[in-house]
Amino acid sequence: MIKIIRGQIVCFGDQPENVAHFEKGALAVSDAGRIAWRGLFSDLPQEFKSWPVEDYDNGILMAGFVDAHLHFPQYRMLAAPAKDLLDWLQRYTFPEEAQYANATYAAAAADVFLKRLFQHGTTSALAFCSSHKVCAEALFGAAGSYNMALVTGKTLMDRNAIAAVHDTVEQGAIDTLALHKAFHGKGRLRHAVTPRFAITSSDAQLQMAGEILRELDGALMQTHISESAGEIAEVARLFPNAKDYTDVYDQFGLMTDRSIFAHGIHLSARERQRFAEVGASVIHCPTSNSFLGSGIMPMKQLKQDRISLGVATDIGGGTSYSMLRTLAETYNLQMLAGLKLSAFELLHMATAENAKRLRIAGDTGSLTIGKFADLVVLDPHATEVLAARQALSQSLEDVLFSLIMLGDDRAITATYVAGKRVHGGVR
Ligand code: GUN
Ligand code: ZN
Repeated sequence: MIKIIRGQIVCFGDQPENVAHFEKGALAVSDAGRIAWRGLFSDLPQEFKSWPVEDYDNGILMAGFVDAHLHFPQYRMLAAPAKDLLDWLQRYTFPEEAQYANATYAAAAADVFLKRLFQHGTTSALAFCSSHKVCAEALFGAAGSYNMALVTGKTLMDRNAIAAVHDTVEQGAIDTLALHKAFHGKGRLRHAVTPRFAITSSDAQLQMAGEILRELDGALMQTHISESAGEIAEVARLFPNAKDYTDVYDQFGLMTDRSIFAHGIHLSARERQRFAEVGASVIHCPTSNSFLGSGIMPMKQLKQDRISLGVATDIGGGTSYSMLRTLAETYNLQMLAGLKLSAFELLHMATAENAKRLRIAGDTGSLTIGKFADLVVLDPHATEVLAARQALSQSLEDVLFSLIMLGDDRAITATYVAGKRVHGGVR
């Protein structure tokens, strides 16, 4: 496992503007797959000089991407056009997720899914599974085989979908507890209690999810909130006694600092205040939000309200596995909404910030010595369009910004998880 990886090293600190850049850099990976040293290759300490070298020349070596919200059983159903979110769920999503009752199918799909992430430079994720326990077992098993920091759980959903993807309050609880016991803290795997959203869980199931979340040591909670107008109207109809959508989750003990909510596009001032109070996170899913016509998340407002934010693909509502494409869509949508984000802010959010949201930042999300070597190597000249653009780039920020706006999986030269190359290689 030990190796020296050479390239242009870009490391983010705690804040996006604290960027360390080693143009002719090197990074030492220990036998445990952790970062043992980083700096200028010319300063490489004696003890590492005999280690084998993988040289990426001008390739940009940074922390691997963390995808803070996506759906494993939607891995092949991208680009399914629908009227809106609820139509998309009923028409395509629930029938596709029904396949994952089959353990053999799920195991084969899990391997393809993780390879897809690695092809796009993603090294960690918070993922939904289907409602079937075997689906979560397949994904945990595959991620464990790569020693990957992956957070997932079986989806809880006992109403308003189709029978093939419904569970029950009792079975949902049994499966959730069993998955926590089997996988949470096993290597780098973590478990998240996963009610799909308020529409597809009964009051009793949401109550159960809240109780389990309180009981389980260190588990996260993931769900969806305030994504589309039709969804919000349906939640209001189903929960007439709640103040608003956020209050539904609050009433069942699901608003906590371990709670991660995808979308959060249409939250009211009261709801945003509640998010900030409890320290719950909102994950922006820009390609999904434009594809499904859900709306533009007001990131400027959410930042002003000091809400913890992340960014994610939301495969398969999202239209790309690439965090570069996702950051480009974030930039474009937020420009429309009056917020201009820098390349450093965007990349920091997709790595260090997302890792914090997933509570895996102790071990990944930046190139800090001692963390696992979860890395991506980016090629700023990957395509003719990128190469032509780089001729005009005048700063690191400029190179990274053009990579975000013009790059995709073609710009991913290699991906490493816990020090092991899982995609690509030296060209
Ligand atoms: N809300 C509930 N389920 C889903 C889903 O699978 N995708 C998206 N985008 N929103 C949801
Ligand atoms: Zn989602």
